[in-house]
Amino acid sequence: MSKRIKVIDIFTASVDQNYTVMGWVRTFRNNQFISVNDGSCLANLQVVADSDKMGEDLTKRITSGAGISISGKLIVSQGKGQSVELIAEQIEILGDCDPETYPIQLKNRPSLEYLREIAHLRFRTNAFGAIFRVRHALAYGIHKFFNDRGFFYMHSPIITASDAEGAGEMFQVTTLNLKDVPKNEDGSVNFKEDFFEKHTNLTVSGQLEAELAALALGQVYTFGPTFRAENSNTTRHLAEFWMIEPEVAFNDLDDNMDLAEDMLKYLIQYALDHCAEDLAFLEQRLLDEEKNKPQAERSEMSLLQKLNFCLEHPFERVSYTEAIEILKNSKPNKRGQFQYPVDKWGADLQSEHERYLVEKHFKKPVILTNYPKDIKAFYMRMNDDNNTVRAMDVLFPGIGEIIGGSQREERMEVLLNRMQEMHIPADEMSWFLDTRKYGSVPHAGFGLGFERLVLFVTGMTNIRDVIPFPRFPGSAEF
Ligand code: 4AD
Ligand code: MG
Repeated sequence: MSKRIKVIDIFTASVDQNYTVMGWVRTFRNNQFISVNDGSCLANLQVVADSDKMGEDLTKRITSGAGISISGKLIVSQGKGQSVELIAEQIEILGDCDPETYPIQLKNRPSLEYLREIAHLRFRTNAFGAIFRVRHALAYGIHKFFNDRGFFYMHSPIITASDAEGAGEMFQVTTLNLKDVPKNEDGSVNFKEDFFEKHTNLTVSGQLEAELAALALGQVYTFGPTFRAENSNTTRHLAEFWMIEPEVAFNDLDDNMDLAEDMLKYLIQYALDHCAEDLAFLEQRLLDEEKNKPQAERSEMSLLQKLNFCLEHPFERVSYTEAIEILKNSKPNKRGQFQYPVDKWGADLQSEHERYLVEKHFKKPVILTNYPKDIKAFYMRMNDDNNTVRAMDVLFPGIGEIIGGSQREERMEVLLNRMQEMHIPADEMSWFLDTRKYGSVPHAGFGLGFERLVLFVTGMTNIRDVIPFPRFPGSAEF
């Protein structure tokens, strides 16, 4: 088995030599042409087989989806559409695939909805092969970006007792017997009997732990799974998603915005440089999908144009207060076309508002800053107006919020005040407060939703299609 060459490498291998290729049959035409894919790249290798030599029994077993090993000579292709082809000398079926029951029939392009139901097999389509190769490249690019800038990768815990965002949308973790839950005298659950001897949950964010590390190591980032039990059945939300959270000592909000913009541009460029073939395919996929939509709903730019556009333009930096004015006076607001009309300062922005700002008004990525304190988390640094905090959300076309972050409140008194106002129990957070007690310094950070980035770069429209096995309300398959 070790002598196999991957399909991606055979395209640049010397011709007139013998090679062994292993993969899965995509199609088999005219009892002669087998296209083989091994996942290493989008392109299939064309294999030319001689059915007389193979015999009927073997020919019958060459079906879409079958695992196959082929040895033969690589030659410059005689036909159009490929540079080289392999003339089969020996063919072995590694695993049969019954064409009658195989759920992936490539002839009539399977819908994304259908493929989501068979997510265990959807890797075998061109689209999902491309998506997950791009996803990999972006993950690698993230580590490279931070490593090259002297950041340290910090593993934040997955099980925790803290609610970092203070939003209470957590999955509980327990080994208590749910049929016989131990109770306190007042009827509440006695978590002293639980595995950790306290109430625990899956983390919603690694930020607070990243802050602890940043205030000693200087610049760190996390990249791990996070969990939200919010009942959001949308194309932008998952119950389990991956988040990248850099945290930097001595940075203020402007530094934070610069880092976020640099990082996003770096990652888009990284994908363009390393995933050209897959992105070209995904661009065409999007064009095909949009052909069936009315003109008004089609994208103004192709995928690659959109990615390049984001690279070429500085992101627009606007305060929340300015954004509210723009939205109040916008046509859709005046015409009552927003589901949530914008009438007063202080309201949280909905995805329709974010997308209006990005797609219609500024027509480029936007960073919104200085939000009202009441709609943001307790740890954000208070401005001198005592009314807004140094928050920033990065908004992207077609996505809305892709990053949320802030400069952190480093002043103990102010932080304690905020925690009290927001009913965050300070006694359970003494470990966090110690950073403010001992050598507190200004610092800032943000969280990038990894799947939202993959969504943007691949031009897909549903977040459930850019994570291998999506978790959302009512579904935890595979
Ligand atoms: O804005 P969020 O909630 O911010 C935080 O969690 C901060 N602790 C981050 C920080 O400052 N270190 O989430 C950050 C990002 C969002 O902008 C969004 O991209 C993504 O995480 N996100 C989700 N992605 C998919 N499904 C969900 N349910 C998401 N919730 C947030
Ligand atoms: Mg947010």
